[in-house]
Amino acid sequence: MNKILILYAHQRHEASNINKPMVEETKNIDGVTFVDLYAEYPDSKINVEKEQQRLFEHDIIIFQFPLQWYSTPAILKEWQDRVLHADFAYNKNRLLLKNKIFFCALTAGGPEDAFNTKGYNRYTIREMLYPIEQTMVLCKMIYLPPYAIFGARFVKDEQRLEPHIKGWITLLEMLKEKRLDIDKAMTQPILNSMISD
Ligand SMILES: Cc1cc2nc3c(=O)[nH]c(=O)nc-3n(C[C@H](O)[C@H](O)[C@H](O)COP(=O)(O)O)c2cc1C
Repeated sequence: MNKILILYAHQRHEASNINKPMVEETKNIDGVTFVDLYAEYPDSKINVEKEQQRLFEHDIIIFQFPLQWYSTPAILKEWQDRVLHADFAYNKNRLLLKNKIFFCALTAGGPEDAFNTKGYNRYTIREMLYPIEQTMVLCKMIYLPPYAIFGARFVKDEQRLEPHIKGWITLLEMLKEKRLDIDKAMTQPILNSMISD
C-alpha cells in the first residue's frame, strides 16, 4: 500500500464550496495523512524538520489548493522554499524524495476552455504549474498532472461537485492500492481522465 500525504492550503476554508467537502471525505480514508497548513502554521512559520519527516514517511505527496493568481496560496510557496532545501531534496548524493509521486489537486474559478492557447488564460493548467513541475522533477520525484475542477462558482448548479468528489476518492484509492497506470497518467493534461471504477 502507498501512504499518501495531502498538504492543504486554503485561506478561507470555512467559505469553501469545493475544497471543504473534498477534505471532509478524505478524512475517512485509511492511509491518507491530511495536513491543513494554514491551521497548523497560522503565522506561516513552517516546522522544517517536521515537514521533512512527513515527506519521508509517505510515498505520494499532494498539494491541495484553490488556484490563486495562477499559482498556489502563499503558504505552499513558503513550504517549498523552506522544506525543499538542497541537502534534503536535490543534492545529487541525497535526493531523499526520489521516486515519490507528486501532484496538485486544485480548484479554479476560470472555466476549463479558458485554460488553453486560444482561451483568455492563454496556457493550459499543466503549463501554468510548470515551476512546481520542474521543482519536483529536479528532486527526482514522479510528477503527475493536476486533478482539477474548473468554473468553481458553477459546480453546484451544473451538478459537477458530487462527481468531482467521488472521482477524488476513487483516485486516492487507486493510488493507495497501486492501481493507477503511472506512465500513462504522466502524459495526461489532467489526472481526471485516469479515473476508473
Ligand atoms: C486571491 C484569489 C486569487 C484567485 N486567482 C485565480 C486564478 O488565478 N485563476 C482562477 O481560475 N481562479 C482564481 N481564483 C478563484 C479560486 O480559485 C476559486 O474561488 C476557488 O478555487 C474555489 O474553491 P473553493 O470553493 O474550495 O473555495 C482566485 C481566488 C482568490 C481569492
